[in-house]
Amino acid sequence: MHVWKKIVAPQRADFWTAQLLTAGGIAPERLVTVQPAGGSPFGWNPAAGFVENVAGSRVRLEVYCERASEARRLVRAFGGQTRALRPGEWERWLASSAIDRPLAIGRRLLVSNQPEELARLRADNAPSGRAVLCIPAAMAFGTGEHATTAMCLRLLDAIARERRRGTWDLLDLGTGSGILALAALHLGARSAHGLDSDPHAVRTARENARLNGLAPRRVRFSRADLLRDWQPDRTWPVITANLFSDLLIRLLPKVIAPALADDGYLILSGVLASQADEVLAAVADAGLTLRETKRRGRWRAFRLRR
Ligand SMILES: C[S@@+](CC[C@H](N)C(=O)[O-])C[C@H]1O[C@@H](n2cnc3c(N)ncnc32)[C@H](O)[C@@H]1O
Repeated sequence: MHVWKKIVAPQRADFWTAQLLTAGGIAPERLVTVQPAGGSPFGWNPAAGFVENVAGSRVRLEVYCERASEARRLVRAFGGQTRALRPGEWERWLASSAIDRPLAIGRRLLVSNQPEELARLRADNAPSGRAVLCIPAAMAFGTGEHATTAMCLRLLDAIARERRRGTWDLLDLGTGSGILALAALHLGARSAHGLDSDPHAVRTARENARLNGLAPRRVRFSRADLLRDWQPDRTWPVITANLFSDLLIRLLPKVIAPALADDGYLILSGVLASQADEVLAAVADAGLTLRETKRRGRWRAFRLRR
């Protein structure tokens, strides 16, 4: 593997993040922001990708690339430098990213990334009726502790509490590790369908469904590029889309809004504060109404209705 890196001023970090995700076509889980000298990442989780804290005089943006050619393409397009990862470096970062304690989502869900703890956590939480979902750290976005995912999980929990168990289905656009689709099943969805353009994410999401013993008839993960080869053939009462702003704006009129049922709820996340107004303008154009905004660091998530 190779890493591309570029040092930028903290106030330009959002701009470069957006450039890499849109013009660069970089999958978000491959992009991280770290402190330059010393290299200690703040709040960084490789599986989660982004960090929120960009305090200090300089920050370093890094993109993890499977091939040297991809890293060189980034240098040509955005400047910066590239180097080969040392043996074991990526694995060590993955290991150091493990969450020490499970993440509590409301009173009904715990998210752990320790498969070996799953049986014990389930036994410990059985009396309270709290479900336990295990999403091991892997190179697909979404272990739960990243702000954009955590906000989606909390909004999903709130929506699920308003709906009768087993009466609603979820569509998860940009499913990554499958965390939102799998969480929805625990929170009361009858079924969930997750879509992602990255084949590795789709494989990981399927493995996570098996690990958590969630029946294939209730959850489906498919590979699809939402910009190119997917159109809804039905509507869903609940949709989650933790993507980046540019993609959300492009998908809202043609994919997201047509897929939402008349009385449906939509959760949008992955929106940088500096891009929130643009996303909300696209939301209004698509005939949707803002019901709730969640804020974590420089990230925003929205709960919307038609
Ligand atoms: C920020 S991650 C969200 C993962 C997970 N849903 C969560 O909330 O943690 C966004 C995901 O969208 C996928 N993605 C990006 N562009 C896409 C596209 N055009 N079509 C489908 N999926 C896409 C990425 O591969 C990535 O797994």
